[in-house]
Amino acid sequence: MYSQKKYQTSLGDIMTFSNDNLSCIKIAWFLVFLNSEKKHNMAIDNYILVEGFKHLKYNPVIYTANEMMERSKNYFELMHKRRSVREFSDKEIPIEIIQNIIKTAATAPSGANKQPWTFCVVKNAEIKRKIRLAAEEEERKSYDERMSETWLEDLKKLGTDANKPFLEKAPYLIVVFKRPFEVDANGNKHQNYYVNESVGLACGILISAIHNAGLVTLTHTPSPMRFLEKILDRPKNERAFLLLPVGYGAAEMYVPDICRKSLDEVVKMY
Ligand SMILES: Cc1cc2nc3c(=O)[nH]c(=O)nc-3n(C[C@H](O)[C@H](O)[C@H](O)COP(=O)(O)O)c2cc1C
Repeated sequence: MYSQKKYQTSLGDIMTFSNDNLSCIKIAWFLVFLNSEKKHNMAIDNYILVEGFKHLKYNPVIYTANEMMERSKNYFELMHKRRSVREFSDKEIPIEIIQNIIKTAATAPSGANKQPWTFCVVKNAEIKRKIRLAAEEEERKSYDERMSETWLEDLKKLGTDANKPFLEKAPYLIVVFKRPFEVDANGNKHQNYYVNESVGLACGILISAIHNAGLVTLTHTPSPMRFLEKILDRPKNERAFLLLPVGYGAAEMYVPDICRKSLDEVVKMY
């Protein structure tokens, strides 16, 4: 599908332009460039130009059917053990682990590759306290006034209330912001695309990376979450999306006894 668009690299092609000294100098520089590309392990054959834009040759890892069976089963078993946790230990975690987790989340696909997310990591006790107090204030209003009877009924089995001590106890809070638009150096706005879908995907990968590392988290939404933008002094193009305490679970902790839907309930084959 990309035929005829591949960059022409043969010396013959270049030589057709070489009818003066200036061209010879240009060729010399081009050959130096080609050589340096090779030195950086970017052999020229590893990409093509499509409408002038570089497309890299992609070599995904290939597994046998048996290996795929094993890997898909193992990954399911790992993820099936994930639970939302609301009781945390304050045991320290090396920041590099949090950085690796966020790097993993930031591999998510995004609309037109705009990567419309910012992950704020909060370790500072004073800021965590401010977040806890503001979150509890919103949650109190939600439990007392905003949530419908049905919603409150649905929450009963989870045993949640407006108190959120884990927002101070967990060693880290990751606050995910979505960026509906970008602002350039001249102050002009540029829309991002499929922002909720993109940031939702990044958060899914974030949660799976946290679990894979052996840590626990809670997907927390003490809405409205504008207080997070104020406390963390975020720019005007960022909106709070999720608040995730991250850490080890408490020495003894309990999670609601709830079930996941069966495959038959969630899949329709065509
Ligand atoms: C978008 C979203 C928002 C959530 N908000 C909260 C929340 O504010 N507080 C809370 O305790 N749990 C919250 N949860 C966690 C859910 O209650 C939990 O995922 C669900 O009960 C299933 O449990 P599991 O995560 O252990 O499988 C939220 C989950 C999602 C996906």
